[in-house]
Amino acid sequence: MTRRRQIYEGKAKILYEGPEPGTLIQYFKDDATAFNAQKKGTINGKGVLNNRISEHIFTLLGTIGIPHHFMRRLNMREQLIRQVEIIPIEVVIRNVAAGSLSKRLGIEEGQQLPRTIIEYYYKDDALGDPLVTDEHIACFGWASQEEMHDIADMAIRVNDFMCGLFAGVGIKLVDFKLEFGRLWENEYARVILADEISPDGCRLWDMVTNEKLDKDRFRRDLGGEVEAYQEVARRLGLLPEGADNVVLDLETQRKKRGR
Ligand code: TMP
Ligand code: ASP
Repeated sequence: MTRRRQIYEGKAKILYEGPEPGTLIQYFKDDATAFNAQKKGTINGKGVLNNRISEHIFTLLGTIGIPHHFMRRLNMREQLIRQVEIIPIEVVIRNVAAGSLSKRLGIEEGQQLPRTIIEYYYKDDALGDPLVTDEHIACFGWASQEEMHDIADMAIRVNDFMCGLFAGVGIKLVDFKLEFGRLWENEYARVILADEISPDGCRLWDMVTNEKLDKDRFRRDLGGEVEAYQEVARRLGLLPEGADNVVLDLETQRKKRGR
């Protein structure tokens, strides 16, 4: 196989040069990190599940008119995406108090928020991705006012859609993180949804039991990480009923064949 040029390696994904200009291949690793990579581990099969879950959610978001970078899934761990210039802001949408919000403001985890909160974090590992406001974003030119307007608008639409999608399969969408990028066409850039949407960057709780079905299982040493990710995939209809391990089994077979 010809070696592809690696463009970027992140904590959970690798980006390679795509087959055509303006495209990239996004490869999903099994690596898991938390607390700004102070905690590191591997969740076997996570990459396969996140690739599939992210494909599913991006495809559905496309059908409601959210512009995004996803083009098509190539294989179990890779998808073809449009190359964008990532805006250095992590957009966190919260419906229920949890995580850093609970910690910072002393609000009990699990409390339904009276209104949805959007927060922005400046993407900078050395600074530990600090919480910032629109004022900082405008002042330092990380995104224009118009881009932030489009981002907030899309974030709310994505949240409304995803709350319904997950509620339909008995899952509460507590909070999640989105990233956006600029798609350049001639001299003009428009903002589109980028990165991934998977249990790595969402808090997903079973509606009845409040069991955590996301990366908090890793962050908080709860165990059963891959089973939780598989449960999300299964409920979304991405794994055949009664064959929960099928995705991973297929990959094991592929590895044995040496491809
Ligand atoms: P937080 O409560 O730790 O701020 O996390 C809020 C949401 O954002 C949660 O669903 C996990 C996600 N998230 C990421 O995807 N990447 C990150 O680096 C952090 C800190 C959170
Ligand atoms: N992905 C982040 C990191 O390791 C943190 C997290 O998701 O909790 O830096």
